Amino acid sequence: MTDRYAVVGNPVAHSRSPSIHSRFARQTGQDIEYGRLLAPLDGFVATVERFRDEGGRGLNVTVPFKLEAFAWVRRRSPRAQGAGAVNTLRFDRDGTFGDNTDGAGLVRDIESRLGLALSGRSVLVLGAGGAARGVLGPLLDAGVARLTITNRTPAKAAGLVDAFAGRAPDEARSGEAPTAPLRARLRACEFALLEAGFDVVVNATSSGISGARLPVADAVFAAAALAYDMFYAPRDTAFVAQARAAGCARVSDGLGMLVEQAAESFLVWRGVRPLTAPVYEALRAELAAETA
Ligand code: ATR
Repeated sequence: MTDRYAVVGNPVAHSRSPSIHSRFARQTGQDIEYGRLLAPLDGFVATVERFRDEGGRGLNVTVPFKLEAFAWVRRRSPRAQGAGAVNTLRFDRDGTFGDNTDGAGLVRDIESRLGLALSGRSVLVLGAGGAARGVLGPLLDAGVARLTITNRTPAKAAGLVDAFAGRAPDEARSGEAPTAPLRARLRACEFALLEAGFDVVVNATSSGISGARLPVADAVFAAAALAYDMFYAPRDTAFVAQARAAGCARVSDGLGMLVEQAAESFLVWRGVRPLTAPVYEALRAELAAETA
């Protein structure tokens, strides 16, 4: 019997997840069907429970329900716990399980597709909202030596540093290269005080929505090996354009992260990791064609 999955959100019509997961299914020979589920803003839990009770096997959760999914699900992975949000739900004999694959997706896209090992690097994360919180744990687990968080509202960056400084390292990676205590690896810094010296700059603000320019000095980008925008667009995002113009060696938007977080969800559900490179290429071409 074909197993059913979907992405639940509001809005959800624009979601690329069905296209990505259909490609994964074809590639791996998994018998699944993946659709879109529009939940009313006040009806997330009812929508999810109906899908599950009708035999659905799993959901991706997108805007604006990731926090509600986290609050609703009782059994969660450590990375969902760290993110404070759930983007993947699995329904099976053991009940409902909540996970978060966003941060793993970012790390994998940087390390595999872009070929930049994060261990020992200095990383700057711009933003301190949900998107930033979702990636901090996986970045620390990837062994970054220094993780700096900068936010327009500085108190929120300081709050994230405090929250993560006290957390236990992920057991899955704790056998790897020894790293300094978390408190020593994490710091908050205001935009105005940022100086060059980061290997990777990650944009986790929602500034791309308005196209606003971030108050980051050109020298910060010029000295970095990679500037990575967690958001994606058919053409350069405002952040990618800013980093490129400032002389950053390599820039990327977040399309690869989208594909990698989907692959990680697919693995959680099916126990098989699909190849992401061909799906990334296909999606990139699809995006370009839409605006040609
Ligand atoms: P998300 O879930 O996408 O992270 P969010 O929780 O609303 O959304 O967080 C948005 C983030 O983008 C915040 O860090 C926000 O900064 P504030 O905490 O100061 O609000 C940041 N942000 C949004 N627009 C921005 C802009 N124009 N310049 C700088 N930061 C911006």
